[in-house]
Amino acid sequence: MLLSFLRKNLRLTGTKYGCGGGGCGACTVMVSRYDPQTKNINHWSVNACLLPVCQLHGAAVTTVEGIGSTKTKLHPVQERIAKAHGSQCGFCTPGMVMSMYTLLRNNPQPTMEDVTEGLAGNLCRCTGYRPIVDGYRTFCEVNSSRPELFSKGDLLPLDPTQDLIFPPELMRLAEVKDQTTQRFCGERMTWISPGSLNELLQLKADYPQAPLVMGNTNIGLDMKFKGIFHPVIISPTQVPELEWFVFVGVCVGAGCSMSFLKSVLERSINDFPPESTHMFRTLLQQIKLVGGQQIRNVAVSTLGGNIASAYPNSDLTPILAAGRCTLVALSKDGRRRVPIDKDFFLGFAKTVLKPDEIVLSVFIPASRPNEIVHAFRHAPRKESALATVNAGMRVWFNENSNVVKEISIYYGGVGATILSAERACQQIVGRPWEEATLSDVYSTLVDEIKLGPSAPGGKVDFRRSLTLSLFFKFNLAIQPLPKHIQPGYQEFQNVLEGQSAQDPVGRPMMHRTALSQATGEAVYCDDLPQTDGELFLVIVTSSRPHAKITHIDFSEALKLPGVVDVITAKDIPGKRFRTFTGYDEELLAEDEVTCVGQMVCAVVAESKAHAKRGAAAVKISYEDLQDRIFTVEEAIEKESFFLPRRQIERGDVEKGLREAEQVYEGEIRIGGQEHFYLETQSFLVIPIGEEKEMKVYLSTQHPAFTQEAVAETLGIPSNRVSCHVKRLGGAFGGKVTKTAILASITAVAASKTGRPVRCVLERGEDMLITGGRHPVWGKYKVGFMKDGRITAADFQYYANAGNVVDESVLVAEKILLHLDNAYNIPNLRGRSAACKTNLPSNTAFRGFGVPQCMLVVESMIDDVALKLGRLPEEIREINMYKEVSLTHYKMEFDPENLVRCWNECMKKADFRQRRQAIDIFNQQNQFKKRGIAIVPIKYGIGFAEAFLNQAAALVHIYKDGSVLVSHGGTEMGQGIHTKVQQVASRELNIPTSLIHISETSTQCVPNTCPSAASFGTDANGMAVKDACQILYNRLEPIRKKNPKGTWQNWIITAFLEKISLSATGYYRGHDLDMDWEKQEGKPYAYFTYAVGCSEVELDCLTGEYRTLRTDIVVDIGRSINPSIDIGQIEGAFMQGLGLYTMEELKFSPSGVLYTRGPSQYKIPSFCDVPLKFNVYLLAGSSNPHAIYSSKGIGEPTVFLGSSVFFAIKDAVTAARKDAGLTGPFQLNSPATPERACLACATHFTQMVYESYSNPFVVCFLLSYPKNSVKKKKRKKERKVIFK
Ligand SMILES: Cc1cc2nc3c(=O)[nH]c(=O)nc-3n(C[C@H](O)[C@H](O)[C@H](O)COP(=O)(O)OP(=O)(O)OC[C@H]3O[C@@H](n4cnc5c(N)ncnc54)[C@H](O)[C@@H]3O)c2cc1C
Ligand code: FES
Ligand code: FES
Repeated sequence: MLLSFLRKNLRLTGTKYGCGGGGCGACTVMVSRYDPQTKNINHWSVNACLLPVCQLHGAAVTTVEGIGSTKTKLHPVQERIAKAHGSQCGFCTPGMVMSMYTLLRNNPQPTMEDVTEGLAGNLCRCTGYRPIVDGYRTFCEVNSSRPELFSKGDLLPLDPTQDLIFPPELMRLAEVKDQTTQRFCGERMTWISPGSLNELLQLKADYPQAPLVMGNTNIGLDMKFKGIFHPVIISPTQVPELEWFVFVGVCVGAGCSMSFLKSVLERSINDFPPESTHMFRTLLQQIKLVGGQQIRNVAVSTLGGNIASAYPNSDLTPILAAGRCTLVALSKDGRRRVPIDKDFFLGFAKTVLKPDEIVLSVFIPASRPNEIVHAFRHAPRKESALATVNAGMRVWFNENSNVVKEISIYYGGVGATILSAERACQQIVGRPWEEATLSDVYSTLVDEIKLGPSAPGGKVDFRRSLTLSLFFKFNLAIQPLPKHIQPGYQEFQNVLEGQSAQDPVGRPMMHRTALSQATGEAVYCDDLPQTDGELFLVIVTSSRPHAKITHIDFSEALKLPGVVDVITAKDIPGKRFRTFTGYDEELLAEDEVTCVGQMVCAVVAESKAHAKRGAAAVKISYEDLQDRIFTVEEAIEKESFFLPRRQIERGDVEKGLREAEQVYEGEIRIGGQEHFYLETQSFLVIPIGEEKEMKVYLSTQHPAFTQEAVAETLGIPSNRVSCHVKRLGGAFGGKVTKTAILASITAVAASKTGRPVRCVLERGEDMLITGGRHPVWGKYKVGFMKDGRITAADFQYYANAGNVVDESVLVAEKILLHLDNAYNIPNLRGRSAACKTNLPSNTAFRGFGVPQCMLVVESMIDDVALKLGRLPEEIREINMYKEVSLTHYKMEFDPENLVRCWNECMKKADFRQRRQAIDIFNQQNQFKKRGIAIVPIKYGIGFAEAFLNQAAALVHIYKDGSVLVSHGGTEMGQGIHTKVQQVASRELNIPTSLIHISETSTQCVPNTCPSAASFGTDANGMAVKDACQILYNRLEPIRKKNPKGTWQNWIITAFLEKISLSATGYYRGHDLDMDWEKQEGKPYAYFTYAVGCSEVELDCLTGEYRTLRTDIVVDIGRSINPSIDIGQIEGAFMQGLGLYTMEELKFSPSGVLYTRGPSQYKIPSFCDVPLKFNVYLLAGSSNPHAIYSSKGIGEPTVFLGSSVFFAIKDAVTAARKDAGLTGPFQLNSPATPERACLACATHFTQMVYESYSNPFVVCFLLSYPKNSVKKKKRKKERKVIFK
C-alpha cells in the first residue's frame, strides 16, 4: 500500500497510520492526474492505507511534507490549523491538512459546507473539531466580529500560485497514451494492469477467479482483515472504456469513482430539464453520504465496484434498482444489458455476473413526468458510516392523477442482499396514493420485510421499524435535520492588570509543537527511523474466553521465511506478571486463558508482514472451560468480584426512605468505551549490548512504571532501563498498564534476540487487547418529597472489570467518591463492585468511573422529575449543594462556584426562553421533537493515593542562555509542555522561545507519577516552578551586580563565577487520603466545577438527532492557557458525547469483540459537533490549591457530554407524551438512534412489536441468551411501550 511505501521506503512519516481501513483519514494524501482530453489536472484526497502503489502509474502524490515546512515556508492550511488550536496530540493533523489542502487546490474559495464535506472522512479524538472548523472557516467568506482565541490578522494568505506544480513529465506521459499492460510480481502475488479493454477481457477469461481491483476499498479490506488471498489481481484502472459518460439519461463507465459520478450528476442536473432530474438529484444526495471524501475519490470506490460487490448495505444499489438503472456486462463472448434489480443480486456478495464478465457501464435513466424518486439511509453516524438500513423508492403516477402506475421499493441492510418489497408494491399499483392505501402498505411491509432473530447486524426491531419509518418518510418527504455549523463563542478571563507583556501565563498560546504537527515533522514513536537489524513483533492472542492451554505449537511459524523467534512466558527471565491492587496479571498466558484477546505469545520477524504470517501459523490447542462469565449479572450470580468491594454511607438511608413521601426504584446501563487514541500502542526497544542496558522508546503516560515493569521482567535493575517519550498521539488513560505489559514483552524479545524490536499494534489488535472504559450497571432507590427534595438515595454499581483487575478496584472506589455529584442528599449510600468476567480487562479512561457513576445519579434525578411531573432542571436546582458543606466522605468544601456556574449557564444559554420555544416546537411537530437539558458536575482533582501527587523536574540553563526543561509529565495533546514552558518563562523572566522541552525520560527525571487524574500540570508545573525559582535565586547576585545586563550576560557571568546552572525541582503534592474503614477522608485537593446545557432535535422515525447548541460554563480558577484549556473542555465534551450517544462496543455470545475498527465503532466526527458550541470560563474565580490559581481540567467535562444524552431523553419524553406515555422510562447509554427511536414508541415501532403476536415472536424471545435479566428488561421495555 502507498502508506507503508511512504513511511518505510521513502521515510516520509508525516502520513500516519490510524486504522489501515480507510476509516480515520490519518493517512490522507493528495493524488493528482493529468487528463489529456480536458487538459485539466485533477486532484483527489485519498486514503494512502487503501491505495496500492501499483495503481499510481502516471499519478503525482503530494504528502504533508510536500506542501510546507517549518524549515522553509508553511502552507496556510498548516499554519491555520495550528494557530486556531486545532492540533492537540497532532496525530490526525497531517490528514486534516491534506484533506483541506486538496479541497483548496480544487476550490480556493470553499463554502463551509465544502469544508465540512471535505473533512468528513477525518477523525480527531482530541479537539472536539470546533477549533479545526474555526481555523479552516478562515478560508471561507464568513467573518465574525467576536473576540477570538487566535488572531486572524497575521495569518498567511492563501496564494494558489505558490502551490506545487504538476510534474510536466507526467503530462507528457499521459499525452502519449501508450497504455501498455503493466505487471508487478511480488513474493506471492501478481498484479496485472491491462492497457485496453480487449486485454482486460482476455485476462478475465484467463483468470476468471481474479478480482478486478478498482478502488480496492472492498477487496483491499478483505485481504487485509479477513486474510483472503488472491494470487492474481487485475486492475483495469487504465482502461478508458471504464471511465466515461454520455448524456442519454446518464451513462457512465463502471470504473468511475464516486466523486467523478458526483460531478457528472451535477452537470446533468444543470443540463437536463428540471422535471427529468429527480433520479439524478436523489443519487447525488446519496453519493455524498458514501464514506468520506477520500473513499469517494479517484482510484477509490468505483460505481462498478460498489455494484459488483453486492453487499447488503450498499447505499447505491437500492436506489439504482428502484430507479430502473441497467448495466452492460461484457466478456470475450459478447456484451449484454442487465437490469440492476432484484434478479441481479443473488445473495451476499453474489450477482448474476459470470466469472469472466466485467461491468462495462451503468445507465441511469432520467426521470419521467410524474415520477418521484427518493433515497433514505440511517447510519450509526450521520457521515462516514455504513448504513444500518437504507432504501430507494420510486413512484410513477398516472398523468394528472394520484393513482399509482408503477412503484418500486428496495431496502438495503435487511438481508443478505438488497430486498425488493414486491408485495407491498403490488398492493399500491392502480390505487390512489392516500391514507387507506398506505395503511395497507405498512401492514404488508411488516409482514414482508422480516428479519430472523439472529440476523447478522442485530438491532432487529429497530431495523424492522425503520423499514416502515422510511416508507413513511417517502410519503412525507420530511425535511432533514439542520447541519450548518455556526461560529462558536469562547470567553475567558483576561490577565491581571499590570502583568508584563512578555509573561505568557494566562494568555492563549498555541500548542508549542502545533506547527511541527501540522507539517508532519513531529516525531511519534513509530516515526523513529529503522535501526540496524531491527525486528518486528506481532502478538498472538487467545481465541477462547476461558480455556486451558494444552499446547502451543509454533514449529510451522518458525519455518516461515523471515520469522526469527517466538516468545512465550518461558522466555521471560524475570517476573512473569505485573501486580495491580494485590492481583497478579500474567504478561503472557502460560496454562490458562481467561478472555478472547489475552496475550499468549509473540512472533518476532524481519518485517511486519513476516511477523503477521508467523503469528497466523502459531497453533494453540485449548481445552475449553465451561464456567464463563460475560455479564455483570452472571458475575453477581456467581459472586465473581475483585476485592475489596467498597461501601460508603452517610445519614440513615433506611429511615430517609421510610420518611419520604414517594419512593422510586430505577436502573440504567452505561456501555463501555474504547479509547480510540489515533496513535495505536507503539514501542521500539533497543538493547545497547553492554551491561544489559535497554533503551525503550514508547508512547506511554507513565514512563517510570514502564521502566520498572521492563526491569522486573528482564530481571535487571531499573538503572539499566531508560524510557523515552517524545509525545503520544492521544492516550486518555489507555496508555498506562497494558502499555507497560506490551513494552515488557517487546523488551523480552529484544533481550532474547539481542536485536532492536519494534511493536506497533494494528487498530484491531489494539482494540481487542487493551480494554477501555468500564461498562456499569447502576441501580438506585430514591426517596423524595412532593416538593422535589430528595431525602434518601441508595446506589449500587456493578462495573464489568474483565478478566484481570488492572485498575478496576480503584475505579470502583472513585465511583463511590463521586456518587453525590452536585447534590446534597442527606441520607446517601453507595456500594460498588468490580465484576470479574471473561472479557478483556478494562482500565483507566478519562474520568476514571466518574462519567458512569454521575450518569446514574442524573438518571435518578430525571426519574424523580418524571414521577413528580416536573422538569429535571427544577429537581437539580432544588437538591444542589448551596452553601459550605461536607461531602458524604466528610470533606468540607464551598460550592459557591458550582452555583455560579449553574446560574451563569442558565443565563448564557437563555435556558428558560428556549424551554418555552421547545414546548411550542414540540406541539407543532409530530415526528420531530426537540429536547434540552442542563447538568452540573463537581469533580475532585488529585490522587487519593497521596504518593502519586508528587512530581520532579530538571532544568538546565546552557551558556548561550537557552533553557532545557525536563519534567515527569508526558505530552499527549493536553498541552502540558506548553503550560510548563509558560511557567518556566514566568519564573525565569525570559521569553518562551528560549525554553525547550525535548522529551520525557526516566534518565532525566526518575520515579515520576503518571500524567493522569487531571493533575499533570498541577504537579509538574509546581516542580518546574521550584527548579526555576532555585535557579533564578542563584542568579540574584549576578543580576544585582549588573541590573541592566541581558539574560545571556547573566548566564555567562554565572558560569564564569562557577554558579551551577542546573537545578532539580520537587513538588511534594497534597497529602490526600481516604480511609475506607471509617468512610471518610480528604481524597481530593479541590473540586473543578462545570455546567453544560445542550439542545437537540430528534427525528423520532429514525432516532437520528442533531445537537443544535451546547453552552458550557467551567470554573477552572485562573487558566494558565485559555486556548489549551478550552481545547480540553471541548475535546472532553465530545468524548462524552460519544460515550453517551454513539460509541457502542459489541461482543459475540462467546466473548469476541466485534467492534475492532472505525467501520464498526463510531466515534464522533465533524458531523456531530454541536451546531453552536459556546464555552465560557467562569470569571472572577481563583484557586489557592494549585499553580497560579488554576485548576485541573483534563477529565471533568467528559461528563457534560451527558447533557446531550438528557436532551435526547427530554425529546423522547415529548414523543412519548404524544403516544400517551408518561412517567419514568429507562434509556440506557449510549442513547443510540436505535434506542432513542424505540423509546419514542411511535406508531411504527408499535406495529413491529404487535407483529410479534405470531409464533415467530416466540422464537425471537426464546432466542435471547439465557441472560435472564436481559429477558426481563426486554419484557419490561415492551410493557412500557404498550402501557
Ligand atoms: C471506509 C469505507 C467507508 C465506506 N462507506 C460506504 C458507504 O457509506 N456507503 C456505501 O455504499 N459504501 C461504502 N463503502 C464501500 C465502498 O463504496 C465500496 O467498497 C466500493 O464502492 C467498492 O468499489 P471499489 O472500486 O473500491 O471495489 P474493489 O474493492 O476494487 O472491488 C470490489 C469487487 O468488485 C469487483 N469489481 C470491481 N469493478 C468491477 C467491474 N467493473 N466489473 C465487475 N466486477 C468489478 C471486484 O472484482 C471485486 O470483487 C465504504 C468503504 C470503505 C472502505
Ligand atoms: S489509516 Fe488510512 S484511513 Fe485510517
Ligand atoms: S489532535 Fe486530533 S487526534 Fe489528537
